[in-house]
Amino acid sequence: RHDFPRIGIDAIALAVPRRFVELTELAEARGIAPSKYLTGLGTRRMAIAAPDEDPITLGANAARRLFQRSGASPADIGLCVVGTETAVDHAKPAASFLHGLLGLPSACRVFEAKHACFGGTAGLLNAVDWIASGSARGRAALVVCSDVARYALGSAGEPTQGAGAVALLVRERPRLVEIEVGQTGTYARDVYDFWRPLHHKEALVDGHYSVQCYLDALAGAYGDWRRVAGDGDPLARTCYHVPYGKMARKAHRHRLAMDGLTEQAADESFAVEVEPSLDLPSRIGNIYTGSLYLALASLLNAEARALEGQRVGLFSYGSGCCAEFFAGRIGPEAGALVAALEIDAPLDGCRRASVAEYEALRQGDEAADRRPAPEGAERGGASLDSRVVYLGLDS
Ligand code: HMG
Repeated sequence: RHDFPRIGIDAIALAVPRRFVELTELAEARGIAPSKYLTGLGTRRMAIAAPDEDPITLGANAARRLFQRSGASPADIGLCVVGTETAVDHAKPAASFLHGLLGLPSACRVFEAKHACFGGTAGLLNAVDWIASGSARGRAALVVCSDVARYALGSAGEPTQGAGAVALLVRERPRLVEIEVGQTGTYARDVYDFWRPLHHKEALVDGHYSVQCYLDALAGAYGDWRRVAGDGDPLARTCYHVPYGKMARKAHRHRLAMDGLTEQAADESFAVEVEPSLDLPSRIGNIYTGSLYLALASLLNAEARALEGQRVGLFSYGSGCCAEFFAGRIGPEAGALVAALEIDAPLDGCRRASVAEYEALRQGDEAADRRPAPEGAERGGASLDSRVVYLGLDS
């Protein structure tokens, strides 16, 4: 093993849309037993985005909150990666919008990472490697995972929708989670389980096949991880990519079966080792690239103090597909920092929307993509203020 500096997640912040739909109400509207959504899928609510709540504004709001709460400054950033699979432009990366909106330094590498839900992890592990290589020269990385999940109205995927962003500050001597650098388990395979052809607003999915692809990828990545890093102390908790809560339960069973445990033993450990990570995902839905980090945020929010010094596993899956299993250690003073970060506070201002209101918002989706560029953008010089007004950022 190499002797890397201590690198990882120093702070975390969320942004969510203003509205959510109660899935019991969606079930009623679709003529489906609510227990299918609540117990069968393990979902409770889905956040829904208005036109001014796109991956740019959600991502910028999460990043602003990250700076406000963590004490870090935009001037500290030398790399900004945005993981998204619902970008607003085919060429201009979301990271360039954020570079302008956040006032990041000009000596800053910015780019967008796309690989379905794996894009955020691609950004995070790239940032870790950038620091480990020495390229960071003491600077920090900003990794933003931001998405709006959309399936066809009335489809099987509909109750698994969500929207939101997670911003991560990645640097040396991290206060929240120190990542085990260079010790990830990886799996990739060319599959058609979930995709979104150009000009499709909604994702297409082969739902049951996607569940199998996720489990196959978990087996591959976890098996690879056990070979490179499995001899450390046991994982106190594991956060999985959470398209819906039941998927995390299936994943946990699948992983522990590889360790020789029965389904019953896996279900018993699930309540302790996984359930605390599912609170925020069940209140927001699948936020694609940010989903694993929403699970991590949920775990920290619930248990950071109790887990100080302990090792946690992280599993990221992106359809198509690529997956990575890796581990990190919770910092010795993570509990106090998490209290100051007030991770779940952005959910306080959210309000319940009716199914009719949600459907009306969805009908406006196509028009949202054809919005005029902000004034002056054609000349390449829209002011920050005009973008803020146009994009509807939090002040
Ligand atoms: P479905 O066909 O509507 O549901 O689709 P089902 O019939 O398979 O039922 C689901 C579960 O509910 C089953 O339990 C039923 O028994 C149970 P399970 O066998 O799974 O344990 N059930 C009930 N429980 C209580 N009361 C009832 C009841 N009725 C049934 N009355 C599916 C489910 C997940 C396929 C669908 O929602 C879907 O297509 N979702 C979108 C795709 C998805 O989330 N895939 C997950 C893996 S791929 C992934 O994670 C990547 C992704 O995030 C994208 C990316 O990478 O960018 C999606």
